[in-house]
Amino acid sequence: MAVFISFEGGEGSGKSTQAEVLAERLANTGVAVEFVHEPGTTELGWQIRDILKRGLPGEREFSAEAELLLFSASRAQLVFAALRPLLDRGDTVIVADRYVDSTTAYQGYGRGIPLEQVEAVNEMATQGTMPDLTFLLDLPPVEGLTRIGNLQLGFQFDDSVLHADDVRAREGARFEDEPLEFHERVRQGYRELAAKEPKRFCVIDATLPESRVSDLIWNEVCDRFPELAAAKESVEQ
Ligand code: TYD
Repeated sequence: MAVFISFEGGEGSGKSTQAEVLAERLANTGVAVEFVHEPGTTELGWQIRDILKRGLPGEREFSAEAELLLFSASRAQLVFAALRPLLDRGDTVIVADRYVDSTTAYQGYGRGIPLEQVEAVNEMATQGTMPDLTFLLDLPPVEGLTRIGNLQLGFQFDDSVLHADDVRAREGARFEDEPLEFHERVRQGYRELAAKEPKRFCVIDATLPESRVSDLIWNEVCDRFPELAAAKESVEQ
């Protein structure tokens, strides 16, 4: 069966770890699993990730709109080259570490681009390909930021090619320099999205211990997709 599960959350929410744990658990049941990470996964996605991560020579700042379109271009290619073909095959579970809700939360609620504009771009990028289930790992930003330390927020520039003096200037672009209020808006945005689509979203309290979070996620997946639960039982027997 084809199932599309995405993971969302703010910085330090543990979402990437949990996405990997779920993908591994599914693979252990014998289910075909594909793991995708945004931006990235496709060649175009990796190039865009690189631009967002390193910036461009002589251009350190991108407009919020340019940022929105870069993330979305990466997503459009992901849908075209990876998600649609996989979903059409009908036998794979896709686990996505971030998807379109990240854009609404970060570029919409966080950066303040009008939500109807973000939605229009999202619709174009996804062509209606939406997750069956989205886990929102919800955490107060102060806790998430404390967990990872400010220097690891958002994209880190690869400073290996820079002179020491340039490094400070280029560190901290994108999400790292954003004030706490930015991250509060992102969280609020996620929570509003989850409230609007309670069937698609499963909100998890990410302050819980990691293993408890993994179990909550696994139980939810097995409840929602009995076929996967059956695969689980056959492995446990
Ligand atoms: P990344 O290094 O992938 O870390 P993580 O996903 O583990 O947080 O950084 C991705 C950053 O990009 C993250 O801070 C969220 C942000 N982002 C957006 O602002 N919009 C988007 O559409 C996506 C996919 C990510």
